[in-house]
Amino acid sequence: MRIILLGAPGAGKGTQADSIKAKYPVAHISTGDMLRFHVKQETELGKNAKAYMDAGKLVPDDVIIAMMEHRLQEEDAKEGFMLDGFPRTIAQAEALDAMLSKLQLKLDAVVNLMIDDDTVVGRLTSRRVCRQCGEIYNTVLKPSSKEGVCDKCGGEVVQRDDDKEEVIRKRLSVFHEQTAPLIDYYSNQGLLVAVDATGGKDAVLKILEQKKANA
Ligand code: AP5
Repeated sequence: MRIILLGAPGAGKGTQADSIKAKYPVAHISTGDMLRFHVKQETELGKNAKAYMDAGKLVPDDVIIAMMEHRLQEEDAKEGFMLDGFPRTIAQAEALDAMLSKLQLKLDAVVNLMIDDDTVVGRLTSRRVCRQCGEIYNTVLKPSSKEGVCDKCGGEVVQRDDDKEEVIRKRLSVFHEQTAPLIDYYSNQGLLVAVDATGGKDAVLKILEQKKANA
């Protein structure tokens, strides 16, 4: 399986990926997680990316494209992958096309998780994540059993730096301006599958299963 999870910040790309992974053990490649790892490790890349991320802006295309060129050549990606948060601009999508053609790989589907901005703001202001294992929580819908402690690994559960309302609004405007054009880009390639992002945490898995059954 080779798919892209496309959608606004907070549409549930990470949450849907977790459900899919439980059934199809393909590599879950999240550029946001990769960048946060670099920020935590204080690498050169992380130091450069942090200011963009904290401001809700996109990290420059050349940085992301170079990072993904390496990642897609790693062993686990050969068996299949879910791309979460990449591509995010037309330039990144064109670079991905070139990478896949070099590796002689094809995408199976691009899932467009559809959601409105107000729902996103509600979700992201109440999102919490485990600093250690990345497990996603929500103070309203899915709190950890003990506040601030991860049920899965005992790590610290915190709010992401970019989950403050003004930064969320900026991320949404960047999405509408720079990422939404990818909907037409992939629709024109016949790859787009639209999914209601409010339809449950395994909405994408269900659609993929249906597609497989009909193939
Ligand atoms: P990134 O980490 O990719 O953030 P994002 O796209 O803004 O997406 P999120 O991780 O915020 O949300 P999500 O869709 O995964 O939702 P989640 O499942 O967590 O990127 C961060 C930053 O890195 C960017 O701003 C940029 O600076 C940089 N960056 C990353 N990739 C880049 C690229 N390619 N190019 C340039 N820069 C890049 O769910 C959200 C909440 O909703 C959770 O609390 C969850 O419990 C809840 N929820 C999820 N699904 C449901 C549901 N069905 N019903 C009810 N609640 C739900």
